[in-house]
Amino acid sequence: MDKKILLTGDRPTGRLHIGHFVGSLKNRVKLQNEGSYQNFIMIADMQALTDNARDPEKIKNSLFQVALDYLAVGIDPSKSTIFVQSQVPALNELTMIYLNLVSVSRLERNPTVKAEIKQKAFGQSVPAGFFIYPVSQAADITAFKASVVPVGEDQEPMIEQTREIVRSFNNIYQKDILVEPEGYFPEKGQGRIPGLDGNAKMSKSLNNCIYLSDSEEDIKKKVMSMYTDPEHIHVEDPGKVEGNTVFTYLDIFAEDKDHVAELKEQYRQGGLGDVKIKKYLNDVLQDVLRPIRERREAFEKDPKAVYEVLEQGSKAANLVAEKTLQEVRDAMGINYFK
Ligand code: TRP
Repeated sequence: MDKKILLTGDRPTGRLHIGHFVGSLKNRVKLQNEGSYQNFIMIADMQALTDNARDPEKIKNSLFQVALDYLAVGIDPSKSTIFVQSQVPALNELTMIYLNLVSVSRLERNPTVKAEIKQKAFGQSVPAGFFIYPVSQAADITAFKASVVPVGEDQEPMIEQTREIVRSFNNIYQKDILVEPEGYFPEKGQGRIPGLDGNAKMSKSLNNCIYLSDSEEDIKKKVMSMYTDPEHIHVEDPGKVEGNTVFTYLDIFAEDKDHVAELKEQYRQGGLGDVKIKKYLNDVLQDVLRPIRERREAFEKDPKAVYEVLEQGSKAANLVAEKTLQEVRDAMGINYFK
């Protein structure tokens, strides 16, 4: 039987952080190693350029960083095709074709894009390419006929919009060529970590991230600076566990759930200091991140090999996407000279 197809990716605008790790990377590695999918992992540099047109150098550097992060967490080029979006031209043509199936007002209603436009403070100057990136994302997914898309929950509206485009295309051109994808999300409460400052989102612009590439000292310093319970001043004071970032991280990363439960109990009663819980969290995080960092450092020493992975991956991805594009053109009857 043909394997189901999985496609996913990230915008390269910096190094990846532990929010990416729990939000999507962990699931991608898990699904990859289950062996029941054909995996395509894409570095979405074209999408990153939609709001970084003046800084292609940043995207180029980030592309390499994200490739290292992928390899470091265990995306394995012998099991997954890792490729670069801009090196697969069929994706752009599919985007143009799909743009005619989507209204401007529908794009305006995409909640993720709406939130990003607000957050990035574009004002009246939203780049048109940024505004339509959900359509280019639909091209990414459908070019590979992916049925599974492991991403963070914030990407759900993109998958919904892709499904609409697929239905619309198949319906208008009366061909069952494109495949409706499903999102694959982390378990409840496991996929979203707040920033070090307690902000709901970990994001580079807020400077509240722990990166997969952070050194042991960076991690320790960051953990020690974390937001806890502002009213927990003296060790003997009873403290709050809900909304306390240290406990939120422990719930996600600590394996010894019983120990975390004990710590919570003690913290609530009073008598457990912030330094102690932070030290424990530091130990837990160091254990998770050490092997990732070590693998990352090894790959970093051989950039040629990393680019080779991307080049081979992009070649393989090209063949698949080009084939879908020709099917799409055939279905529309616009391959005039064939
Ligand atoms: N939008 C994703 C991000 O913000 C990146 C992305 C582009 C993507 N195309 C995709 C994710 C297709 C999944 C499937 O990082």
